[in-house]
Amino acid sequence: MAAFRMGKTKKNTSRLRPDLPEGVLSQREALERLDRMTEQAQEGGGAARIEKQHKSGKLTARERIALLCDEGSFEEIDAFVTHNAHEFGLADKKFLGDGVVTGVGRVYGRPVYVFAQDFTVFGGSLGERYGAKIVKIMEQALKNGCPIIGFNDSGGARIQEGVASLGAYADIFLRNTLASGVIPQISAIMGPCAGGAVYSPAITDFVFMVEGTSHMFVTGPNVIKAVTHEEIDMEGLGGAGVHGETSGVSHFTSESEPDCIVSIKKLLSFLPQNNLEPPPFVEPDDDPEREDDRLDRIVPDHPEKPYNMLDVIETIVDDGDFFEVHKNYAQNLIVGFARLGGHSVGIVAQQPMVLAGCLDIASSLKGARFVRFCDAFNIPLVTFEDVPGFLPGVNQEHNGIIKHGAKLLYAYCEATVPKLCVITRKAYGGAYCVMSSKHIRSDVNYAWPTAEIAVMGAQGAVNILYARELAGADGPEMQQKLISDYRERFSNPYDAAARGYIDGVIRPRETRKKLIHALEVVRHKRDVNPPKKHGNIPL
Ligand code: HXC
Repeated sequence: MAAFRMGKTKKNTSRLRPDLPEGVLSQREALERLDRMTEQAQEGGGAARIEKQHKSGKLTARERIALLCDEGSFEEIDAFVTHNAHEFGLADKKFLGDGVVTGVGRVYGRPVYVFAQDFTVFGGSLGERYGAKIVKIMEQALKNGCPIIGFNDSGGARIQEGVASLGAYADIFLRNTLASGVIPQISAIMGPCAGGAVYSPAITDFVFMVEGTSHMFVTGPNVIKAVTHEEIDMEGLGGAGVHGETSGVSHFTSESEPDCIVSIKKLLSFLPQNNLEPPPFVEPDDDPEREDDRLDRIVPDHPEKPYNMLDVIETIVDDGDFFEVHKNYAQNLIVGFARLGGHSVGIVAQQPMVLAGCLDIASSLKGARFVRFCDAFNIPLVTFEDVPGFLPGVNQEHNGIIKHGAKLLYAYCEATVPKLCVITRKAYGGAYCVMSSKHIRSDVNYAWPTAEIAVMGAQGAVNILYARELAGADGPEMQQKLISDYRERFSNPYDAAARGYIDGVIRPRETRKKLIHALEVVRHKRDVNPPKKHGNIPL
């Protein structure tokens, strides 16, 4: 490992400038020293380690930053920081920058703070000074109201620095928490991220992973084997597929690092710089008054037949551009960002093609976190609802659908951003209340003529209400008649409309313009919750 010599100049023995006192550098020598140190800082752990990094399919910290930031915009901070450790021979092994590149750059012209862990220096492991560098830019990001993006690629706590490195992690966790809801925090996992180190990304708003090269776990395969005798490799334990589909820890999965960075930039394009600013406005190419008659035919005539809610969303939003979050996780609920009339919106929608769009534990968690993010960052919520209810099942009950479903309810209730809702088909039971209903402060609620707003579906209702009668000999015959009577009475939007629980029944083709008109009015709404330290969301 090439140790750094702290940028010392050669002793002034040649006395090129005998007029200067011993040890004093000339201007030229001082500039040369700066150039030499700057060059050395750029080298990270050296050419051999950079080659190894490339061979393992990964970019370097600086390459990642260069892809993220507008050309020439990145200003590095603390490039000459080195560690202060002495144990295990570290005193002689110092690298300028100490294994993490930090600074501020621009993405599409807007400032963002960035740190990128450099795996070529001590495996990107985090020590005291390294942690202090990250904390410094986190505090600047918070003070200056800018998003922060962290590229994680690290062997975790720098073992040689002992508890100092644990303290440095805790310092970061605290800043993550204090910055939560104030500035957007984005974590890109570009390599290993193990042990307690996972908890910084976990607190941030969005986690990105790359197929094949990103791994996150609290305890690695070897420890798991020793403790539980389960055998699994890194990919199976904590690869991008696992966290994107099963655990839901990661929100975005990309095939390559450049793709991942493109996605980060796209995400940023929908977000404000901080919680006191509105999201950026993007002049739409798409006519705000555009109607689309495909929407009039999208809901199948048969109430049990599924349709793809993504088609509904893409037909309505500006340019059909929907940026889905958590695409492969809890697919019965769709969440993501889009624009309506040029303004960012957060979309929450049932997907009737998966579990008939029922709400379950995973989708409640997914939805609640997304709703809270949008509420924290002034992004209006648009809900497309087709929900037959909460998913029945012993597994769901035993694993706490009560408390997890309550999270989504709580998130919608506490949200004070503009809330719009379109009921496309089913809005049954408790799920009707949860999904941005008028009763929990939704601003504008529309229903399509195909909406069925009721306590439950016709068959279930009849089976309960007429159990005794249906047990008789003419039960089956009666049942059909009762179901059709119930449908006639309740499986429509007009009972809710009669009570003012929805603001109007609209033609599906008009949905885009109706939503844009509504947004124009409610965009500047002011709503507050009672003063409190914080609520007690059922965690
Ligand atoms: C110091 C480390 C290090 C660490 C890696 N290195 N991890 N140095 N502290 N935590 C060094 C290696 O010694 C090696 O140095 C260089 O980085 C590259 O590592 P390799 O092992 O050659 O790379 P690779 O084969 O790609 O394996 C990467 C790895 C492995 C899977 C990350 O290095 C590894 O398992 N590291 C230890 C991970 C770990 O247990 N960390 C502590 C987790 S607990 P040389 O000089 O030989 O090239 C934790 C607690 C956080 O982090 C708590 C927060 C509250």
